[in-house]
Amino acid sequence: MPSYVVTGASRGIGLEFVRQLSSIPGNEVFGLVRNKSTATRLTALDRPNVHVLQADVTDKKALSDAAAEVGRVTGGKLDVLISNAALIPTGRAVRGVRSYLPDHADELISDVKDALNVNLIGVLLTTNAFLPLLLQGSVKKVIAISTGLADLDSTLEVEISSTAPYSISKAALNMAIAKYAVDYKKDGIAFLSLAPGVVDTSEGKGVMQGSPEEIQENMVLAVRFQKKYPHWLGPSTPEEAVSQMRKVIDDLTLEKSGDFLSQYGNKQWL
Ligand SMILES: NC(=O)c1ccc[n+]([C@@H]2O[C@H](COP(=O)([O-])OP(=O)(O)OC[C@H]3O[C@@H](n4cnc5c(N)ncnc54)[C@H](OP(=O)(O)O)[C@@H]3O)[C@@H](O)[C@H]2O)c1
Repeated sequence: MPSYVVTGASRGIGLEFVRQLSSIPGNEVFGLVRNKSTATRLTALDRPNVHVLQADVTDKKALSDAAAEVGRVTGGKLDVLISNAALIPTGRAVRGVRSYLPDHADELISDVKDALNVNLIGVLLTTNAFLPLLLQGSVKKVIAISTGLADLDSTLEVEISSTAPYSISKAALNMAIAKYAVDYKKDGIAFLSLAPGVVDTSEGKGVMQGSPEEIQENMVLAVRFQKKYPHWLGPSTPEEAVSQMRKVIDDLTLEKSGDFLSQYGNKQWL
């Protein structure tokens, strides 16, 4: 009976992970959400093998309580942790560093701290809370959902300056995952930073939404992506992205632990 914890399960990619994983008989899936009362799409799944737990990933006590509840249901173990929750860039955080400077340098620091707090510290707190259960599990995998925007080579090659705070936080996350991978290899736990590609999680609103500045940044990005990846036809659906990522997760071995891969299981980000 493999058990899974998925953070940020209220919507988007996290919700789709819970939906797909819980459709497999025998799987026990725990969806962690910030607010249970507003996670209506998750609770509407209404499946006996789906457990909805409340925890903000920046709240150590809430994560510890969630881990205790998971352990109570599973008999003290967890097979796979999927850290998916993230602070997604909106508003001014879609900018590159240069557009904050010189007059809004404090805003840059504030936005980087906010992004790091959820996308790095939140994953560290979540990993730490569930490690005792993972050590007792059979599958022993920890997946951190990252982004191709955190890849150094493509940032330089495609010249992506936008979403600086988010990209910086996810690049730091990739290194954190590599550090855990090195330390926990002898315990048999495989870690992976996994990018989903560009996924339309707008729930029908379309990816080109937001302020004029956000739309402009997204359009610049889309044009650059298309230049580097001419085959790219636009965002995938959560269903497609999660199916692709599940294959990469299933294929993960200890030998590849600590790597940073795309939904294709390699370094092709789109
Ligand atoms: N969509 C894409 O194109 C894309 C591309 C690259 C990478 N990714 C990555 O894929 C993952 C999922 O993205 P998405 O597009 O599905 O995002 P999304 O639809 O905006 O959902 C984000 C999820 O994270 C939760 N969350 C945010 N802050 C949290 C916190 N402090 N504690 C607990 N939960 C928190 C949200 O909960 P609430 O409902 O309470 O707000 C929501 O469930 C993220 O790691 C993202 O960086 C996405």
